[in-house]
Amino acid sequence: MPFTYPSPNAPSLSPPPRTIDGAGFGKVALITGCSSGVGLATTQAFLSHQYEVLGVDIHEVDYAQIAPRDAGRFHFHRGDLLSEGECDEVVRICVAKFGEKIDVLANIAGIMDAFEAADVITDHEWERVMGVNLTVPTRMIRAVLPFMKAKRNGSIINVASKAAVSGAAAGLAYTTSKHGLLGVTKHTAWRFHDEGIRCNAVLPGSIDTNINDSIEKEHFDDAAFAVMKPIWELHNPAGEKPSITAMEVANVILFLASEGARAINGVALPIDKAWGVI
Ligand SMILES: NC(=O)c1ccc[n+]([C@@H]2O[C@H](COP(=O)([O-])OP(=O)(O)OC[C@H]3O[C@@H](n4cnc5c(N)ncnc54)[C@H](O)[C@@H]3O)[C@@H](O)[C@H]2O)c1
Repeated sequence: MPFTYPSPNAPSLSPPPRTIDGAGFGKVALITGCSSGVGLATTQAFLSHQYEVLGVDIHEVDYAQIAPRDAGRFHFHRGDLLSEGECDEVVRICVAKFGEKIDVLANIAGIMDAFEAADVITDHEWERVMGVNLTVPTRMIRAVLPFMKAKRNGSIINVASKAAVSGAAAGLAYTTSKHGLLGVTKHTAWRFHDEGIRCNAVLPGSIDTNINDSIEKEHFDDAAFAVMKPIWELHNPAGEKPSITAMEVANVILFLASEGARAINGVALPIDKAWGVI
């Protein structure tokens, strides 16, 4: 079991020290997976740029991670996005709280598999990973689209992975879910490109977060991981924690949401210190 990194250290999860600009003033962002890792950092980054944020997570949020000056623009909903009707419910809550406008959807909630290959994958693991990583983001997009179409404006950012374009970065279910998420990204980008709605994906390499807690470690596929290991260790040297921080990924999501990225639609943007070139 190679996943024995230290816990995320405080600096990588700390919010920016002050409001940087008002780019998000009057705008609403809906962020999934807001209680940890990339979702938490993205919540902090969006709040620091004056967005109003509806955050959702299956786990409780630690309010100490939200700067007091931003607390009035943050609303947290605890829920399992996989449960029936939950994605629609989150959007209903967002509209009830912040009004009939959703400017940004950041699909960040996700789980990791245990590197299981096609010879050992169980139905349960396939459905668990595909559900959270592919079905949930798709339902979230479906739920926010009426509001983005009404305003002819919206930015959707899907957090995929290097595993969205590689067969050597994760297990079968995770890899397939992230490949699928790229399909959702591209289809949505083109279908609504003339309605003011953009949809992009980011493809991070290994990030210093809590995602390894979501691995069903008792099913870890050592044989499959051994085949991935030479590729994996080009990016993740053995015994070292991932060098990419959650805030580094959050800043790219923030940019893709911004007016500065208004001509960027349908891209799959690596954030991986060149791992993606291999
Ligand atoms: N950590 C990495 O190395 C890495 C690399 C590439 C891509 N990613 C992607 O980044 C995204 C964020 O992951 P992270 O690394 O920050 O992990 P994380 O575990 O720190 O955060 C993921 C969050 O999603 C939440 N979540 C999981 N299932 C949920 C559900 N059913 N309903 C509501 N919330 C749920 C978790 O509670 C958690 O707070 C994921 O989509 C992941 O696939 C991570």
